[in-house]
Amino acid sequence: MEYDPVICTCLEIKQSEIEKAIRDKHLKTIEEVQNETQAGTVCGACVDDIFLLLEKINGKVEL
Ligand code: FES
Repeated sequence: MEYDPVICTCLEIKQSEIEKAIRDKHLKTIEEVQNETQAGTVCGACVDDIFLLLEKINGKVEL
């Protein structure tokens, strides 16, 4: 099975779900990912990881 860690442990949202949302909806900011997936809206500990996923997919991240 492909490596697909849970990024947001509060809401059990996996990396693949967040990456798919970023790609499909052309998300550019943490806020957009939060609105779209709810990831990062509870304790906020996963925000750094979401940031890295945004960077990985979009190349550079607007804050
Ligand atoms: S781990 Fe994502 S909000 Fe807590």
